[in-house]
Amino acid sequence: MSNPVVRLAGLARSFEQGGVTIEVLRGVDLEVAPGEIVALLGPSGSGKSTMLQAVGLLEGGFSGTIEIAGQDASSLGSAERTTLRRDHLGFVYQFHHLLPDFTALENVVLPQLLLDVKRADAEERARQLLEALGLSHRLSHRPSKLSGGEQQRVAVARALANKPQLVLADEPTGNLDEKTSERVLGEFLELVRGQGSAALVATHNERLAARMDRVVRLHEGRIE
Ligand SMILES: Nc1ncnc2c1ncn2[C@@H]1O[C@H](COP(=O)(O)OP(=O)(O)O)[C@@H](O)[C@H]1O
Ligand SMILES: [Mg+2]
Repeated sequence: MSNPVVRLAGLARSFEQGGVTIEVLRGVDLEVAPGEIVALLGPSGSGKSTMLQAVGLLEGGFSGTIEIAGQDASSLGSAERTTLRRDHLGFVYQFHHLLPDFTALENVVLPQLLLDVKRADAEERARQLLEALGLSHRLSHRPSKLSGGEQQRVAVARALANKPQLVLADEPTGNLDEKTSERVLGEFLELVRGQGSAALVATHNERLAARMDRVVRLHEGRIE
């Protein structure tokens, strides 16, 4: 693969717990191509979230190579990692993590302001995304006034707002009922494909995984 958006080589992570070392990741190798949507499949406890945390550059304690958009994360200081994250990555978590005191629209506007997008343009983009997710009647609602499915849709819009090269999604529909989960995932995939972002999506659901471009399985700390 010539220029992957993410390249992991020999990624390892272990945790100490009560004097015992648990090796969660034991040498993960993975490349994701630009625009490719990869499902990271594995049962609960297999290390999916740990792996996404590594790629998200939010935590230390990893060994091995993590490259995002051609940059080796280990060679960067914390300010440069923050910049890399801001410019290239979008995140969706299982729980929405929206800012409670801001409306749906504002939650999608804010990350764009961090990239110096003009407010009017940011609002237009936020409105379009939320409309595409069926939320045009919810723009001024705060997160607590939204259903679980609506909250996750806003979280999706926020993650995509800056058209990141790579979207990291950790069981993005894991808290939703089956029908809503299928729907929100479908909308997510359509938007991601439409804007040409790549995505790495953790799930334990085979059926959801099968809707992505490629499925990789995390088993005993490695990708099979
Ligand atoms: N901060 C931590 N301290 C100790 N153990 C952890 C920590 N984070 C994760 N683990 C352990 O690592 C394993 C994988 O966790 P996780 O990455 O959350 O799996 P998944 O997302 O696939 O359910 C689990 O056994 C979990 O208990
Ligand atoms: Mg997890």
